[in-house]
Amino acid sequence: MQGGTHSFLSNPQAPAWNAKLYDAKHIFVSEYATDLLNLLNPKLDDRIFDLGCGTGHLTARIAASGARLVGGDSSPAMLDRARALYPALEFILVDGEHLPFDNEFDAVFSNAALHWMKQPEKVAAGIARSLKPGGRFVAEFGGKGNIAQMRRALYLALEKEGLSASQIDSPWYFPSIGEYTSILEKYGLCVTFAVLFDRPTSLSEGDRGMRNWFTMFANSFFRELSDTQRDRVLSDIDNQLRPTLYENGTWIADYKRLRVVAVKPSS
Ligand code: BEZ
Repeated sequence: MQGGTHSFLSNPQAPAWNAKLYDAKHIFVSEYATDLLNLLNPKLDDRIFDLGCGTGHLTARIAASGARLVGGDSSPAMLDRARALYPALEFILVDGEHLPFDNEFDAVFSNAALHWMKQPEKVAAGIARSLKPGGRFVAEFGGKGNIAQMRRALYLALEKEGLSASQIDSPWYFPSIGEYTSILEKYGLCVTFAVLFDRPTSLSEGDRGMRNWFTMFANSFFRELSDTQRDRVLSDIDNQLRPTLYENGTWIADYKRLRVVAVKPSS
């Protein structure tokens, strides 16, 4: 779910998104999704829910297949932009941990959103409930080991400012295949495919790429810090990561993706 700091949200650590900035600097999030769309294989007239649709680019790509799409997100700013960009599509405000649907969709799709939802059992229960019998769930998000180097550098830098790991509440959920597929099975879904794989991802903005990533996505870690401290932390992260994640003027995020497909049994 592309989050925001709103009272109804289940994850108060999720950023208050600036949708235009997000599109300008992090467009790679939807550009990497072609394989996932092939797995979804949308059919004419399929009714599909895009969970955590953000600014709606993938919702629109799926809709181009002739399927009937509903995009859902918890960020009003993201939804405003999605509606402005794709006025013919339906976008609704939803909390992924409290999905309001019952046997309505042929497929639930989600890209780069589930790692913001820290109560995966509630999400899985809602997805299972939303699907029609025989419906499918196709998703990709950050899995176990995602941004491991980046997180290590962040925690070390925060420690130098007097914050220990035990004081920090991470906004993210990065499960293993075993953990996540067990949750889906607990809620009655039959897992047909699961893979965890490295997806090193080039960040835009040259030398400022890593700093911008942390500013956009990890803001909740900096709330207790002064501007000077935050600047020091961001520089320290750059210094720690430069030997391994900076190549020829481009920062590379050490993303690890969990991709899953699951089906709701017909009977
Ligand atoms: C990800 O796409 O893996 C991700 C994005 C923002 C924060 C954490 C992870």
